[in-house]
Amino acid sequence: METTAQVHYTSAADMSAVDDDSVHLVVTSPPYPMIEMWDAMFTAQDAAIGEALDAADGATAFRLMHEQMRPVWNECFRVLTNGGILCLNIGDATRNIGGQFKLYPNHAHVVSLLTEIGFDQLPGILWRKPTNSPSKFLGSGALGLNAYVTLEHEHVLIFRKGSNRTVSGEAREARYESAYFWEERNRWFSDVWMDLRGTRQTTGNGHADLRERSAAFPLELPLRLIEMYSIYGDTVLDPFVGTGTTSVAAAMTARHSIGYEIEPAFHPLLAEQMTRVPHLSRERNRTRLKQHRDFVRQRKRDGKAFKHRNAFYEMEVMMAQEKGIVFYDTTDVTPDGQQFLVQHAPHVEQKELFTGL
Ligand SMILES: C[S@@+](CC[C@H](N)C(=O)[O-])C[C@H]1O[C@@H](n2cnc3c(N)ncnc32)[C@H](O)[C@@H]1O
Repeated sequence: METTAQVHYTSAADMSAVDDDSVHLVVTSPPYPMIEMWDAMFTAQDAAIGEALDAADGATAFRLMHEQMRPVWNECFRVLTNGGILCLNIGDATRNIGGQFKLYPNHAHVVSLLTEIGFDQLPGILWRKPTNSPSKFLGSGALGLNAYVTLEHEHVLIFRKGSNRTVSGEAREARYESAYFWEERNRWFSDVWMDLRGTRQTTGNGHADLRERSAAFPLELPLRLIEMYSIYGDTVLDPFVGTGTTSVAAAMTARHSIGYEIEPAFHPLLAEQMTRVPHLSRERNRTRLKQHRDFVRQRKRDGKAFKHRNAFYEMEVMMAQEKGIVFYDTTDVTPDGQQFLVQHAPHVEQKELFTGL
């Protein structure tokens, strides 16, 4: 199987290089309005934002920042296929402007915007982030009155365009191969994610400054969303692709990907990450299978039975839908002009590691 990973270094406000109804899933995290690190970027695109901030008019700045991204959400709606899903990671902002501390509820604003555009919202996920800050609260400390709750979560908002997606022919088979294990399903489809720590990409050599500027999300976040809401061979779009975490996740999971990014300086980081995809995908597949073997072993120890068997990996599974699961390793990634060509082959287990089950 071959997929492609493309990144366009232009604004996602115009994605005319992408056909209508051609994308199956959007996974993205935009710049968060009213988080200071993005002020200059928003102001460069609309001077009125800088003027509002200078005039201590937080409400106007907040509204204009969101308005600036409206064309991107419109484009996402256009390119998504019927039944396609959009997963949007965003955090709210707290900020003191003109002596007034308040919350800027980005998630609420973007829900209104996307609903207005025509998306239907689906149940979403609270991503509970690990905090490492020793001083948790702002405001008046241990004194009552004027103290503030600490924001320790972000949102993964989920939307659908149109009605349920249906597939036929080859895609039907791909849907069964792309299924996930029952115990993964229970974790992934929980509405609070607390276990995304420790999965940040590490390149080991340089680019620390770029990474800092990118506000990259952990690799596990797009990986999970891609596995939850798409199948092998689908096309995944990230209109705010940054360092390319979504492109890496899509290449690891045998999906095509398209990214848009206004900052071309991120490209070397993406190119470097792409060389690591074969290793990352093999390790992930190995880990998922090992975790499933551990689950099977534990369940048997507890005296519980299994009704079904996965054909490819010759192992017990909970549900009939898991019988067709096949994982794909990325075997090769080759730069090809503006894109990467990515090869995939079924992940074959070293069965001798699992005797005695
Ligand atoms: C929160 S970061 C995304 C980080 C990304 N998820 C990652 O893992 O690296 C948002 C990105 O959107 C980019 N951006 C902002 N406006 C854009 C636009 N109109 N079109 C494309 N990219 C844009 C910014 O340069 C920034 O890299």
